Amino acid sequence: ALPRDLEGVRVVVSAGGTREPLDPVRYLGNRSSGKQGYALARVAAQRGAAVTLVAAHTLALPEPAGVDLVSVSTAEQLGKAVRTAAADADVVVMAAAVADFRPESLAEHKIKKADDGSAPVVTLARNPDILAGLVADRRPGQLIVGFAAETGDERGGVLDHARRKLARKGCDLLVVNAVGEGRAFEVEENTGWLLSADGEERKLPLGSKSQLAATLWDVVFQSLRR
Ligand code: C5P
Repeated sequence: ALPRDLEGVRVVVSAGGTREPLDPVRYLGNRSSGKQGYALARVAAQRGAAVTLVAAHTLALPEPAGVDLVSVSTAEQLGKAVRTAAADADVVVMAAAVADFRPESLAEHKIKKADDGSAPVVTLARNPDILAGLVADRRPGQLIVGFAAETGDERGGVLDHARRKLARKGCDLLVVNAVGEGRAFEVEENTGWLLSADGEERKLPLGSKSQLAATLWDVVFQSLRR
């Protein structure tokens, strides 16, 4: 049995990937499966936490037992749901792949092929950074965790890049996943680093997404007790 060390801790986890509609039938999306976020929510609940899971397009996954599940689609909806839940949470983990851009306008009808063979031009607008917003509005003592999916390896500057991202976003912990070449997205195992705002860096061994979740909750638990 797992330790009940997160009893009384209120956590919010976002999972999955947002979809940004282009017209009534099309969207811009990404390849996040939601598995890492679900593992985080499941393990936190098993360890006694009160968990709100804000999930975007994770329909293929079984609903974890004992969590409060909120289903969303777009980045805007995910942001709203996470901010609402974060208002009385001790820990917020942003594991969702949030679209950085959305189509500037949503076509009312399905976009048709033009007779002259030309293709439509889609103008994108920036989505706000939800994680940075949570950091700006955080409750006293609230712990905020971000994820970063980076291509490349350690020598390719992934860690330097991630350290800068941690500083820029202002979160307390950043889980850095190496992606590309079949790593991290849609697979069962995950690896990377866990960077802490106080400069601590842990290599996360290749393991299941549940193992990564357990390691993250261990570190969160230690930080909350400090
Ligand atoms: O900058 P990047 O997209 O790599 O940052 C990833 C982290 O930021 C993840 O924790 C993700 O959930 C979060 N994010 C966000 N809002 C966005 C884009 C990313 O909260 N618009």
